Amino acid sequence: MAFSSEIIAWYNLNKRDLPWRHTQDPYVIWLSEVILQQTRVEQGLPYFHRFLSRYPDVTSFAEAPEDEILLHWQGLGYYSRARNMHRAAKTVVAEYAGIFPARYDDLIKLKGVGEYTAAAIASFAGNEAKAVVDGNVFRTLARYFGIDAPINSSKGKKLFLALAQELLEVTQPGIYNQAVMEFGAMQCKPKNPDCATCVLQLDCKARREGRVAQLPVKIKS
Ligand code: ADE
Repeated sequence: MAFSSEIIAWYNLNKRDLPWRHTQDPYVIWLSEVILQQTRVEQGLPYFHRFLSRYPDVTSFAEAPEDEILLHWQGLGYYSRARNMHRAAKTVVAEYAGIFPARYDDLIKLKGVGEYTAAAIASFAGNEAKAVVDGNVFRTLARYFGIDAPINSSKGKKLFLALAQELLEVTQPGIYNQAVMEFGAMQCKPKNPDCATCVLQLDCKARREGRVAQLPVKIKS
């Protein structure tokens, strides 16, 4: 698939050096992904480092008093994320002997771990072929393939998920997933994307049809 290999090639040249990209430890990836769920990378980075140094493994996280975790979480907001993490950590200790799972089917059962987060951990840590579909991925696929199905309709979601899964048929699904998210964040930006410097501009349907600013489509809810 030309798209997937182009995206991976772009990623290898342009990716940011982020700490969670140097590990395949599912605990560390879980920590980073939950922090980044509603938080920008620059804001999340110091929290990531702090949590990892205070709680170097899931057992230390599970055994910490909840108040202490919430205190370290201060400033990130959405405190349910921290409470859910504490419950998930306790489950990992109780049911997985403290070994953080890396399989999608186990991850999805953990408190606070949804489809996106389970796919991210399973693919980054275990190279499992589960597509991650976040806002960056929706936008990139909608533009490149010129898809105007609303990304927040159930039909649209299904379509994008199926396409993302198809594009994942590569030898390194974990790298591909990171690559397409990074591409959406850095190149195929929501506003004023710099199409003139984009390596995909010639094959991008939205670019060819002058519809970049109209995609992706979102219906009012
Ligand atoms: N946002 C959510 N997950 C991310 C990741 N793994 N790298 C960069 N930004 C992210």
